[in-house]
Amino acid sequence: MLENAKWISYPTDTGFACPVFKKTFDTKKEVKRATLEITSLGGYYAELNGKRIGDFILAPGCTSTKRVQAQTYDITDMLGAENEIDVTISKGWFKGRINWRSNQDNADKRESVIAEIKILYKDGDTKTISTDKTWQTSISKITFADFYDGETYDCTHIESFVPSLEQDYSKEIIVKQQGEKVVEHERISPLSIFKTPKGETVIDFGQNTTGYFEFTVDAKKGDRVSFSVAEVLDKEGNFYTENYRTAKAELIYICKDGVQTYKPRLVFYGFRYVRVNEYPTEIRKDDICAIAVYSDIKRTGYLTSSSKLLNKLFENIIWGQRGNFLDIPTDCPQRDERMGWTGDAEVFVKTASYNYDVEKFFTKWLTDLKLDQFENGGVPHVVPQFWGDDPSSAAWGDASTICPWQIYLTYGDKEILKRQYKSMCDYVKYIGKISKNRYLWTGCNHFGDWLGLDAPAGSYKGSSDETFIASVYYAYSTKLVVKAGKVLGKNVEKYEKLYDNIIKAIRKKFKKYKTQTEHVLALYFDIAEDKASVAKSLADMIEKNGKRLQTGFVGTPYLLHALSQNDYTELAYDLLLQEQFPSWLYSVKCGATTIWEHWDGRNENGDFWSKDMNSFNHYAYGSVADWVYGVACGINTVEEKPGFEEVLIAPHPTDKLDFLSASIETRHGLVSSKWYHDGDKIRYEIVTPVKATVIINGERHEVEKGSYIF
Ligand code: BGC
Repeated sequence: MLENAKWISYPTDTGFACPVFKKTFDTKKEVKRATLEITSLGGYYAELNGKRIGDFILAPGCTSTKRVQAQTYDITDMLGAENEIDVTISKGWFKGRINWRSNQDNADKRESVIAEIKILYKDGDTKTISTDKTWQTSISKITFADFYDGETYDCTHIESFVPSLEQDYSKEIIVKQQGEKVVEHERISPLSIFKTPKGETVIDFGQNTTGYFEFTVDAKKGDRVSFSVAEVLDKEGNFYTENYRTAKAELIYICKDGVQTYKPRLVFYGFRYVRVNEYPTEIRKDDICAIAVYSDIKRTGYLTSSSKLLNKLFENIIWGQRGNFLDIPTDCPQRDERMGWTGDAEVFVKTASYNYDVEKFFTKWLTDLKLDQFENGGVPHVVPQFWGDDPSSAAWGDASTICPWQIYLTYGDKEILKRQYKSMCDYVKYIGKISKNRYLWTGCNHFGDWLGLDAPAGSYKGSSDETFIASVYYAYSTKLVVKAGKVLGKNVEKYEKLYDNIIKAIRKKFKKYKTQTEHVLALYFDIAEDKASVAKSLADMIEKNGKRLQTGFVGTPYLLHALSQNDYTELAYDLLLQEQFPSWLYSVKCGATTIWEHWDGRNENGDFWSKDMNSFNHYAYGSVADWVYGVACGINTVEEKPGFEEVLIAPHPTDKLDFLSASIETRHGLVSSKWYHDGDKIRYEIVTPVKATVIINGERHEVEKGSYIF
């Protein structure tokens, strides 16, 4: 790969200014085929003869710094007799503010690019143009770029070229593109442009989105355009950016003469609102549009109901996934984080895998998890590892077992288990090594039931017992190693014993459960021996709390399951349909267009719960959709026939909705389940592409592929 090419960089450190590299070449004969193979340390934006090459946004993608993906583009039709290639690079994920880790580990390395153009002439001759010191480099018109702070493009900047510096960086880290590329998707026109009480001009796109915006302006050379972005307005209706923390998230553009159109090239933003800081004329709706940017994954799942609010929640979950599936599963797309937080991905993976086809996406991310896993088997909090070597937290590190298992269940290919099995085992062994107790996970720091509402004042952690949570996850990850090992034909005896011992130890130590989350885990993970009384106790707590939840990142994904598995399906529906704070529909009623990080991201009086941990686009609580697919509509894959090779359809209707329907485009075809009230009857419309077991009102029906009405 890139055999003849050399890594090249600007001769000196350019700070956050982006260097451009150019090379001119001719093609005197008729070209049969020409390709460009390219990658970079940092982000790249490549043009041939003034036109963008390919549609991969934020190339070369986000990976562990132990590898970098190379892309190949067919450039045959872009070539002329005389050609110029220009490649601009930023610090991107490699050395931007986002990657604290790489800034330490690669302090001596500079952003650089490596590329090779291969031309095959019609007469069989070939020509290769590879990066080397003959490529000229200059500071480009992108005089600043950083994911957190935004981009500055200066049309008046005059480039001054010098020879590139060849670097002897290893080429061994270069791999082929593994995941989907990130591309532009929806273009969103402004809903309104208005003046805030402070007198600022703000554009509302009506949708919290990840990507950027494109504007067209008629200006004079040197005129300035500048924008800032926000997710929400404060309660007075003013532009609010405090929740972006240190991320400036601006776009500054210095104009040339005439009508010109621009959109950022090397950064992305998370936003619904854009504040017009500087603009040479009065901005009109037609001058600007937002562009959503995310991985090119295929939508597979749909949910619809008779409730408008619930439908909006379903839509918000989809937008939450779009905005956070940007080559890696990020926690949020706006503030100074935007990282592959493992816990968030673990919580959401099931919903994600029904909503979209994410097999390739997670295969890539889990490869990075494996690469960045510590030598002792621990899993970093964020993957790729942009942070330090903190010991793993329960429910975060467990992404290493939960994600591969879920991808296997949804898509049915053992390959993911084969690839990850060692990583799964290493993680479980790591817990055994790091814990003070053999069968309980003790003596470590965890994120606990992160953002649980029962957190003590001033804390982000809910008050559920951390050792209980950690030990339950220890048991669960061990169980998944057993399951995966069996699929792969491994001897898993020692893990089976370990699992039994952990369960015994948890049962011995934890006889009572205090919080909602502790109850939920005890039920869902088969810790409780007397499930009926634990479920009743959970139900009582929820009832006493006005049919409202208190759970955080750990309890929420399993809350409705724990209830419906124990005959409290109606209470699960009450929580799903609850409109008062705290609830899923509370945020919808407050006008949310994505999923909030915190149940009271915004209080009922319009204030924000916090400045610093208050993202309005955090997909984690969107994990409730897996209950709607799997329990309310009842679509389930069968563990022994994963990937929907066989289906179990067991819907749980309620009188609280007129109808509910779900469909998933599986690897075997479309499966759908809809129920609706028809007079005093409930009708079920079921479509299965494969053999299915349908359970209606406790009655089993074994059916072949087809459409059925019950
Ligand atoms: C992130 C979360 C993450 C958490 C870990 C936050 O800052 O945004 O989503 O899981 O830290 O506790």
